[in-house]
Amino acid sequence: MRPEPAPTNTTEQRVDLVLARVLSKAASVPPRLADAMRYAVLGGGKRIRPRLVYASGRLAGAPIEVLDHAAAAVELIHAYSLIHDDLPAMDDDDLRRGRPTVHVAFDEATAILAGDALQALAFESACADGVEAAVSLRWVRLLARAAGAGGMVGGQVLDLEGETRRLSADELEQLHRKKTGALLHASVAMGAAAGNLPGGKADALDRFGTEIGLAFQIHDDVLDATIATEALGKRQGADADRGKSTYVTVLGLETARKEADRRMASALDELACFGTEAAELVELAKFIVSRRR
Ligand code: IPE
Ligand code: IPE
Ligand code: MG
Ligand code: MG
Ligand code: MG
Repeated sequence: MRPEPAPTNTTEQRVDLVLARVLSKAASVPPRLADAMRYAVLGGGKRIRPRLVYASGRLAGAPIEVLDHAAAAVELIHAYSLIHDDLPAMDDDDLRRGRPTVHVAFDEATAILAGDALQALAFESACADGVEAAVSLRWVRLLARAAGAGGMVGGQVLDLEGETRRLSADELEQLHRKKTGALLHASVAMGAAAGNLPGGKADALDRFGTEIGLAFQIHDDVLDATIATEALGKRQGADADRGKSTYVTVLGLETARKEADRRMASALDELACFGTEAAELVELAKFIVSRRR
């Protein structure tokens, strides 16, 4: 599947076009399942992970038409993870991106299956025609590691454990690195894997991905405690209501804020070797810890 050049003004618009194209090409999908998948993927979202793919990929000299496939893949995994995260058996949330969650708008079984289908579609995207086999292989490995038991899914298990016992600061850091940090790191690494960077710079970019991934989730905890539902697009205070262990509930709001900034600063340190070429990533990193939704 070779993507047509997408005529776009912004990266977010490009991401939406790419995702709509991937979803429309999924063959012979039962209509209700297709509707739920589209609802979950195309209903807004900041597209932070695809933006990381494009920014790190550009830095590594990768062609944008190749990066489209990685951008779609990470966002599809993310969309699947949100559907499942909101299910009654997990966070039991009824609001996401300012709209009813997928299991509310459709039904629980459809939500579970739409998540499953999006996960599979992500891997199909990573192996699209037009991507060199060696690049696809690197992407599939990165995605599988980030999304699997040692990454996001493992992190979600620790997150639920953190509802029944108070986690230590070290455990919390591990939880955040896995549940959310892993996929943000993979986004940066997949962009880089499509290009060509000398070893030292590749390692620095990789460490940037790890640090900004952790900063992202600490800031997500801060948002849950500080931003009103209407602006946030998800229910304010949901973490505290469920008795979750978060940076805010365990370490306090001020410490959480400082920690997010500290991690962001150390992420930025890793970009120093790129000079002004990394401006897009610098801007994204700052956005990640200053966004209000
Ligand atoms: C929210 O992620 C879920 C977490 C991983 C904490 P985002 O804040 O990136 O959500 P959207 O995609 O913009 O809605
Ligand atoms: C979600 O973390 C992480 C994944 C979806 C893997 P949260 O539970 O904190 O995300 P929100 O706050 O519901 O978006
Ligand atoms: Mg959760
Ligand atoms: Mg949640
Ligand atoms: Mg949260």
